[in-house]
Amino acid sequence: MAGHRRVILLDYRGVGASAGMVRDRFEDMAADAIAAIHTLGLSQVDLLGLSTGGMTAPAGRRAAKAYLVRMKRRRTGRDKPVTPGVFRAQLRAVNRWGHQIPTGASSTAPTLILHGDRDRMDRHRVPATLTTTFHIQGESIMRAFVFDNYKQPVHEAEIPEPAVGDRDLLIRVEAAGLNHLDERLRAGEFKAILPYKTPLTLGHDLAGTVIRTGSKVTHFVAGDRVYSRPRDHRIGTFAERIAVDEADVSLAPTSISIVEAASLPLVALTAWQALVEKGNVQAGQKVLIHAGAGGVGSIAIQLAKHLGAEVATTVSGKNADFARELGADVVIDYRTQEFETELSGYDFVLDPLGGDNLAKSLTILKRGGKAVGISGPPTPTFAKSAGLNPVVRLAITALSRRIRALAEKLGVSYEFLLMHASGDQLRQITQLVDRGVIRPVVSATFPFDQTAHALASLGTSSIRGKAVIIGADQSA
Ligand SMILES: NC(=O)c1ccc[n+]([C@@H]2O[C@H](COP(=O)([O-])OP(=O)(O)OC[C@H]3O[C@@H](n4cnc5c(N)ncnc54)[C@H](OP(=O)(O)O)[C@@H]3O)[C@@H](O)[C@H]2O)c1
Repeated sequence: MAGHRRVILLDYRGVGASAGMVRDRFEDMAADAIAAIHTLGLSQVDLLGLSTGGMTAPAGRRAAKAYLVRMKRRRTGRDKPVTPGVFRAQLRAVNRWGHQIPTGASSTAPTLILHGDRDRMDRHRVPATLTTTFHIQGESIMRAFVFDNYKQPVHEAEIPEPAVGDRDLLIRVEAAGLNHLDERLRAGEFKAILPYKTPLTLGHDLAGTVIRTGSKVTHFVAGDRVYSRPRDHRIGTFAERIAVDEADVSLAPTSISIVEAASLPLVALTAWQALVEKGNVQAGQKVLIHAGAGGVGSIAIQLAKHLGAEVATTVSGKNADFARELGADVVIDYRTQEFETELSGYDFVLDPLGGDNLAKSLTILKRGGKAVGISGPPTPTFAKSAGLNPVVRLAITALSRRIRALAEKLGVSYEFLLMHASGDQLRQITQLVDRGVIRPVVSATFPFDQTAHALASLGTSSIRGKAVIIGADQSA
């Protein structure tokens, strides 16, 4: 029958798989199915199989029993492949609801399947050439790591897939870099300058594959392998999928793995914006990069060398050789040496530590030199450009008074950087990576379901370079 009739199976993730976040009435699901059929340009179909997750079956012992059988076969949060037995049980349930199954209907060779992306229901039973992915706005749910209120722990949740705007790419997250910013956001440290509503999905870095594109997207197509640091207020890469403005995305480097690509966007953009945008670092200048073994530092050393600078860095002794391999000309062990007595006449300092470290850094600059701080304190100039409210601006003015006064006294300048998303800058970083100028440093990976643990361990462990979460699909 399927050879010459239209047969549609619509796998609708039911309430059993979604913590009640999808439609819970059969009539509403049927309305979605009809909308789906119309969107395909059809006015009628010969057979519609609507898998609704079981819970929506009308009350009845046998329907409930069939549902329980199915639940037993389910792995955490996702269905096992539906077996012919289960499918026959579903057909029987449809029959019980009073629908007529046409004689000769085949459940093994449908001509068309509507399904969520990478759904397991069809992969084992239907040739890929006969399937199509179809999305109903708000229909898909996905796994994500969220916190419900500031200072509350991060936990896994099933949340609706984000809506995809005209200029957005829906990206399957195959790996997601971990950043201190995630933990600091959750702790409420950024409330004043980056106010987020909770619950919030965390995650600032991603590498993955474009699943589909908004109608006005011009630079990307489904299937592209990309990486990104999504802009503020649109973060959330600790999830199966994310919608990102195409302006924040670049094709990922082809010479490195997807995990390595996911380690780069936030730290490489930070290094770029500090050294190129704010520092205007030139060949022959003397540059100090603090914390050269860290996420930002390990990339900043390589970028500063590429710009032609003479680079000094601070690391603990065990990382001295590593820093030299990255290109550092002068390596200071911060545990045994005082950089402020060893170095002088520098043009530029990148400081990810703040406090006394920043104050001491100003003293090694030559007159006219510049320090860029990424741990603070923020400055009134930053507060103004970020459009912060007058109360926060006053507080920032007070907080940064000491360091600004010191800079003035020494004839140097201090700027605070809060990095921002930029697909254009990422494209330049892609080229540097593929030319072998910058290499990512990934020292730890975690499976997706250990995201909360991985975040918590960021503050307590000292790893070289970056830690990366392997995406939900890849960790299975
Ligand atoms: N404002 C922004 O836009 C922005 C962007 C990115 C990051 N940040 C901030 O910048 C900071 C660094 O980020 P990250 O991702 O690079 O962190 P990270 O990878 O965790 O850096 C840790 C490194 O810091 C080094 N370190 C600790 N104490 C040190 C000291 N006294 N002197 C020199 N090095 C020291 C450690 O070196 P050893 O292992 O050698 O001991 C370790 O490798 C974080 O606070 C983060 O929140 C801000």
